[in-house]
Amino acid sequence: MIKLSCLLELTHVTKVYPTQAGEYLALKGLDFTLNRGEMVAIVGTSGSGKSTLMNIIGFLDHCTTGSYVFSGRDVSHLDDEELALIRNQKIGFVFQSFFLLPRLNALQNVMLPLLYRGIQTDLAIKKSLDMLQKVDMKKFAEHKPNQLSGGQQQRVAIARALVGDAEVILADEPTGSLDSKTSHDVMQLFIELNQNENRTIVVITHDKEVSHHCPRVVTLHDGKVVTESSS
Ligand SMILES: Nc1ncnc2c1ncn2[C@@H]1O[C@H](COP(=O)(O)OP(=O)(O)OP(=O)(O)O)[C@@H](O)[C@H]1O
Ligand SMILES: [Mg+2]
Repeated sequence: MIKLSCLLELTHVTKVYPTQAGEYLALKGLDFTLNRGEMVAIVGTSGSGKSTLMNIIGFLDHCTTGSYVFSGRDVSHLDDEELALIRNQKIGFVFQSFFLLPRLNALQNVMLPLLYRGIQTDLAIKKSLDMLQKVDMKKFAEHKPNQLSGGQQQRVAIARALVGDAEVILADEPTGSLDSKTSHDVMQLFIELNQNENRTIVVITHDKEVSHHCPRVVTLHDGKVVTESSS
């Protein structure tokens, strides 16, 4: 049997949001483990805590209590600066609304994470063009986001998430703004990246069609994991 190596582990994680009506407990003692090379869908009704979980996994936010171990290191108590550093090196994000910078063209958008890391421009251009090629968008390298369709913008956003060799790609409703054919193509791209390059991918989705493509599905309900299934 192949021994899978654990990339990250959340244990008894809670998340409390302060609100005007008092504290709101969005995660209620959640356990979640992700192995390297896995592709997992996170599903659950609106408000069940999916984005909250993704923000914690992706170092965009802290858990309130519980532990978070990433790559063998306890990261539960790191400060914002330390979290930002890990986030920039280890995590590639893809969001429903793409979040491409409107004034930059596709190539410049993909280059951004590399430039933040101080990688030389020539090398950043080369790596970014390779990545655009991978998502079949090289011919649109000079196009600005408003000159691209939704599916094309999402492919550029995926290239940006991949370019820095992140340890994990976190996608929150990546097909939420796309029609069903484009949505299928984007999911197919994730599946290829997982199967051919062993990329570790977490996809949050409402779409049964999308989760159907994932070998492991984790269902959240009311701030907890309620079911796990693997095919
Ligand atoms: N910044 C915040 N302040 C207060 N409450 C919040 C905050 N962010 C999320 N919540 C609450 O926490 C719960 C979980 O929110 P979350 O965004 O994780 O849900 P979700 O599963 O991603 O939902 P959706 O499918 O609608 O995106 C919700 O009840 C939400 O109202
Ligand atoms: Mg959400």
